[in-house]
Amino acid sequence: MKLLLVTLIVLCISIGCSSYNILVFLPIPVWSHYVQVEPILTALAERGHNLTVYSPWTPKKEVPNFHHTFLTASKLKEMFDLFFASEFLAVLSHKLAAPIISSTSHGYSESTLQIAGALNAFAHLPAKFSNYVPPMTFVQRLDNALRNAAFMIHNKYWYYPSIDKVLAKHVPGPLPSVSSMLKNVSLHFFTGNVAVDGSKLLPPNIVELSAHIKAPLQLPKDVQDVMDRAGNGVVYVAFGSLIKASQFKKENIELLLSVFKNLDRTVLWKADFNLTDVILPKNVIVKNWFDQVSILAHPNCVLFFTHGGISSMIEAINFAVPVIGMPFFADQAHNLAYAEQYGYGLTIKYTNLTHDSLLWSMKTVLQDPKYKKNIKRGSRIIRDSPMSGVDTAIYWIEYVIRHEGAHHLKPVTLQMPWYQELLLDVTVIFVTIFSVFMYILLKIFTFLVFCYRKLRNKSINEKKKTV
Ligand SMILES: *[C@@H]1O[C@H](CO)[C@@H](O)[C@H](O)[C@H]1NC(C)=O
Ligand SMILES: *[C@@H]1O[C@H](CO)[C@@H](O)[C@H](O)[C@H]1NC(C)=O
Ligand SMILES: *[C@@H]1O[C@H](CO)[C@@H](O)[C@H](O)[C@H]1NC(C)=O
Ligand SMILES: *[C@@H]1O[C@H](CO)[C@@H](O)[C@H](O)[C@H]1NC(C)=O
Repeated sequence: MKLLLVTLIVLCISIGCSSYNILVFLPIPVWSHYVQVEPILTALAERGHNLTVYSPWTPKKEVPNFHHTFLTASKLKEMFDLFFASEFLAVLSHKLAAPIISSTSHGYSESTLQIAGALNAFAHLPAKFSNYVPPMTFVQRLDNALRNAAFMIHNKYWYYPSIDKVLAKHVPGPLPSVSSMLKNVSLHFFTGNVAVDGSKLLPPNIVELSAHIKAPLQLPKDVQDVMDRAGNGVVYVAFGSLIKASQFKKENIELLLSVFKNLDRTVLWKADFNLTDVILPKNVIVKNWFDQVSILAHPNCVLFFTHGGISSMIEAINFAVPVIGMPFFADQAHNLAYAEQYGYGLTIKYTNLTHDSLLWSMKTVLQDPKYKKNIKRGSRIIRDSPMSGVDTAIYWIEYVIRHEGAHHLKPVTLQMPWYQELLLDVTVIFVTIFSVFMYILLKIFTFLVFCYRKLRNKSINEKKKTV
């Protein structure tokens, strides 16, 4: 450890990297959001940067330079080189006069794309709640355009002005408009991967990351034994940290258990329902907590029954475990629509859960080798990248500080009105010129036809006269 530290320091001095003061503000108490950025924060602290972190969670291990604190007004008077938070805290970044990197934990979003100057991305990216998968049909693209127009108009004319009013009331001093502060965000990180939902045309101020993939840990002995001994394979069932199985209807818990009973596989279910209320089949083990990555990484894990959250999807693909998806909210249905299209697995609806359809889906994905083959291809894609997610994040964070906000990365579309970004003015001129041209052609043609007829009639008349 000491040797590592010395090497790090020597390395730092020799390449001239400096220690920066970074303020991290993650107030939203959602565990799955926090775990996506925690590895980045730890790595930053280990590189010698001084981190002031406000979040509902304390770090798992003690890291020097990682100061988990409450934010007070006096703390905000200190000087920071960077502010790392959600984009909607851009106002704090303005007050701190520090560049901001925003972090979104659920893939690309309509608002991020608009703020980052990539309004036109929706020619090819489906809006998050549409659950379309490219290539979109004309009607789907029409719907997609309407959704985005509605979103843009709502933000521009209602949402941002209403925040402006609130800020004017509560924040002392003159303040730029919310939309200009949002456009000032230096870099947007979002959790995602091309293997989850395809290649995206993104400007350089948006960085897609999968920083949370960690190495598997040693499993607890009892779980390790179960996994090792499961000759037929293990089915892992987990619906993320927000969806509580204890809130499922009792008949649905019983339905799931009866399907699992018929699977002829060991089933591990991360669930919090009261075990005294149900009869567990012999092949099913229910616990409050399993280390998901370590289970998925085990070679005997053959199927993952998931809610389709982005972290879970990235982990499933990384470890090549085919999925059965049951989406509940947010981007889950979007991720699973792609998973079905890419052949990683099948999706079922919680609102339309039947014993037979679930059993059929699970057996299909378990028995048809194409699902494993497809997700293995996805796994090779995720694993083959020039830098790990954490290294990518660190590179860009230090880049933004080195270049005082790196505002040169922003596309000029941010200064253009929306109709210019979408080439609407050019299109209108083209259509107008083309229409006028066609109109003139038509007029000339009808005139010529008119002349021709007149001449012909004249000559016929003359012929008649001579005859
Ligand atoms: C590092 O951050 C802590 C906590 O915010 C602060 O008290 C301290 O002064 C900072 N250290 C340096 C060297 O800036
Ligand atoms: C834009 O960000 C820079 C830091 O990168 C900051 O100094 C400036 O005040 C910000 N401008 C607005 C309008 O928020
Ligand atoms: C589980 O249910 C039993 C009986 O219905 C009850 O006595 C027990 O307190 C419950 N346990 C928990 C942890 O809620
Ligand atoms: C519900 O499932 C049944 C049987 O799988 C299917 O025929 C039906 O179309 C589904 N309904 C909806 C609304 O998805």
